[in-house]
Amino acid sequence: MQEKLLNLQEAALSEIKDASSIENLEGLRVKYLGKKGEITSILKEMGKLSAEERPVVGKVANEVRESLEGNINSKKEEIKLIEKEKQLSSEVIDVTMPGKVFTVGKKHPITQIIDEVTEIFMGLGFSIAEGPEVETIENNFDALNAPKDHPSRDMSDTFYVNSELLLRTQTSPVQVRTMKNEELPIKVISPGRCFRYDSPDATHSPMFHQIEGLVVGKNVTMAQLKGTLNNFVKELFGDQTNTKFRPHNFPFTEPSAEVDVTCFKCGGEGCPMCKQEGWIEILGSGMVHPNVLRNCGIDPEVYSGFAFGMGVERLAMLKYEIDDIRLLFENDMRFLNQF
Ligand code: DAH
Repeated sequence: MQEKLLNLQEAALSEIKDASSIENLEGLRVKYLGKKGEITSILKEMGKLSAEERPVVGKVANEVRESLEGNINSKKEEIKLIEKEKQLSSEVIDVTMPGKVFTVGKKHPITQIIDEVTEIFMGLGFSIAEGPEVETIENNFDALNAPKDHPSRDMSDTFYVNSELLLRTQTSPVQVRTMKNEELPIKVISPGRCFRYDSPDATHSPMFHQIEGLVVGKNVTMAQLKGTLNNFVKELFGDQTNTKFRPHNFPFTEPSAEVDVTCFKCGGEGCPMCKQEGWIEILGSGMVHPNVLRNCGIDPEVYSGFAFGMGVERLAMLKYEIDDIRLLFENDMRFLNQF
């Protein structure tokens, strides 16, 4: 039995020596030292031995067990070390290699303007309203008091989807949606994409952006419209900026005005930017027409409102001195990265 144990030890030690992984070693531990392992099964036969033999064999068995355990543990350490070295050498960092450059993205100039304008109005207590780009003809024209023979309703001016739907030509239909669905008082700003059947040239694009504003409540006045827009242009173009309200006509406002600001390039003296006029037109505005209020279920005898709308591309072109609207949509990074 003693010899059996010693043979076993020899075989086990050579297997341990050849083990190549931690799992391998664990397998050997189970095979030799486990509950159902080979040493255990030899020891189970101890009962057959004489009283003198038993302690001698027991001693040998213990020595064999200890030697196997010791060898397995030290082999384990050895393998761990080798694996660690392997890992270290495979992860060598060459600090002389050129670094990887990560380019950080940025917002498109149109998005920048929209963010800047909405932030100014949010500071004035406005919240943001949104409407769909595919809009009903009713919301885009009829409810806004645009008579059936209005030039902007001409088929050639507009992308119609069917007899009831079109790609909205302006953000003004969001006014209708807001007045029909929200509680008074209303104070919203609505940026969004619009579409018109225009051939692209330096100042026209069939797709463009507008920002609409609407305030409705009791005792809303034209003085408040002027105050609000004065505040806005000073924030956007600088403190020295003044406004000029020129009478105009929009179907959905009465009275209506186009708003000019003092040229921010020459300060009003006249330069090529303002075509020597000292003023630059930036938006349309007015007091919400009583018919529009009525169309949206609001009593014009009790409530009044003002509205305004501006073209985002126009603002971007003025602010960044871009002379062709098409540049904004070509997505050439050499152009976009300048803003
Ligand atoms: N919707 C007009 C346009 O596309 C712009 C506009 C003018 C909007 C006056 C308004 C407004 O809300 O009051 O030309």
